[in-house]
Amino acid sequence: MGLECNSKPKIVTGEYGYILEDVPHLSDYIPNLPVHSNPLQDNPAYSAVRQYFIHVDDSVPQKVVVHKDSPRGVHFRRAGPREKVYFESEDVHACIVTCGGLCPGLNTVIREIVCGLHHMYGVNRVIGINGGYRGFYSKNTVSLTPNSVNDIHKRGGTILGTSRGGHDTKKIVDSIEDRGINQVYIIGGDGTQKGAAVIFEEIKRRGLKVAVAGIPKTIDNDIPVIDKSFGFDSAVEEAERAINAAHVEATSIENGIGFVKLMGRYCGFIAMYATLASRDVDCCLIPESPFYLEGAGGLFEYIEKRLKEQGHMVIVMAEGAGQELLSEEFRTANQHDASGNKLLDDVGLWISRRIKDHFSKKRKIAINLKYIDPTYMIRAIPSNASDNVYCTLLAQSAVHGAMAGFTGFTVGLVNGRQTYIPFYRINELRNKVIITDRMWARLLSSTNQPSFLSRKQATEVDKKEHPDTQLLDDSFADGEAVTKDITC
Ligand code: F6P
Repeated sequence: MGLECNSKPKIVTGEYGYILEDVPHLSDYIPNLPVHSNPLQDNPAYSAVRQYFIHVDDSVPQKVVVHKDSPRGVHFRRAGPREKVYFESEDVHACIVTCGGLCPGLNTVIREIVCGLHHMYGVNRVIGINGGYRGFYSKNTVSLTPNSVNDIHKRGGTILGTSRGGHDTKKIVDSIEDRGINQVYIIGGDGTQKGAAVIFEEIKRRGLKVAVAGIPKTIDNDIPVIDKSFGFDSAVEEAERAINAAHVEATSIENGIGFVKLMGRYCGFIAMYATLASRDVDCCLIPESPFYLEGAGGLFEYIEKRLKEQGHMVIVMAEGAGQELLSEEFRTANQHDASGNKLLDDVGLWISRRIKDHFSKKRKIAINLKYIDPTYMIRAIPSNASDNVYCTLLAQSAVHGAMAGFTGFTVGLVNGRQTYIPFYRINELRNKVIITDRMWARLLSSTNQPSFLSRKQATEVDKKEHPDTQLLDDSFADGEAVTKDITC
């Protein structure tokens, strides 16, 4: 999208190397804002909670595994209700927009923002922006009430509709101003959150009392800093159903191969977790780990070995894997979608044809390969139980943050705690599976597939993939990298 944010990071330092990467607040640029008591203290459901309000100094460390003498490191502001709020309930006019590709849980987040605003803060004016960013200036809005969103969490997709692109900062902020909106909830992936950062900048430049809150979304789970993105668990669970089907097909016929393509444009988290969860997968191919087809140590050789050993096999592949293998004649022109993502070629289909050709023509071995592409089916399901709870907490954290006057932030779970994270931290980098990490080693030992790379090659690939990151030992055993530099 080419969107740049200019705000300087708000960094607070303390003793022993404590760093708080704080989020902006409306009072940073609007002086003398009136504050009010949080109406939650009179809410019968919450009033009995001991220490319900978050202490003003509470923060959450990004790194939980530390050494005796290591500095306390980067922290984020702990999310949750504050004793004082910066909006009177009857003055709030909130809007919600969903952008980018679908993801399980979108409707749950919408529902919980509407219900959270209403039930916790008595807010009655919430509208939905239809069809993504462009909906701000080219479509009608829809009124959202606890009644109208009551059972939407049981449906996949987004009741508001979505789109890629369409970000026109001036038109969007004009529309926010014209409609008298003062809380903006933006649900979307990295491109969307970059857009949210720019909207916040423009709102601040105009001196408007409008809180901008992001709820990061991607089924691929490649958003940095946060523990995981909502919908990821549901996607992995659904992916397992496809893997089960592939396994049933493969084991029911001689030399059966079940080949499952999963989402993951730049990263293989869904493929890796679905593989680890299933235990039926013999080979998992992800964008982060280069592989080759022919010759010693290649995929064809491994397939032949596996078929000899057990008479069947299951291969799982993330859609972004092996893109470089496609020969020129099969590669489509270098095209991008409206979010600026490179459009991928269907390498899975191409590789499965190559496997068939290799065994029938070269090796004269009869194989039965079934290619399963459940990608969009997985994305379209409603969120599962654990994602529903997770979406609820994210939505409520966003609501508490906006009511407390924070703005220009995104919500996210960091080490199991809800936090407010400045936009630049989630926009500057993409998480990837680290192939020199223990989690990938666990996968290799579960599938018994070749690593396709020597140790030295793997380290080199890793360095190339994560030039700006430093890997912290055990604390990031789930394949998360931490940024070294803070840039906006
Ligand atoms: O970015 C998330 C994602 O789910 C990718 O894994 C996938 O490549 C992409 O969206 C496809 O989305 P669409 O076809 O809607 O552009």
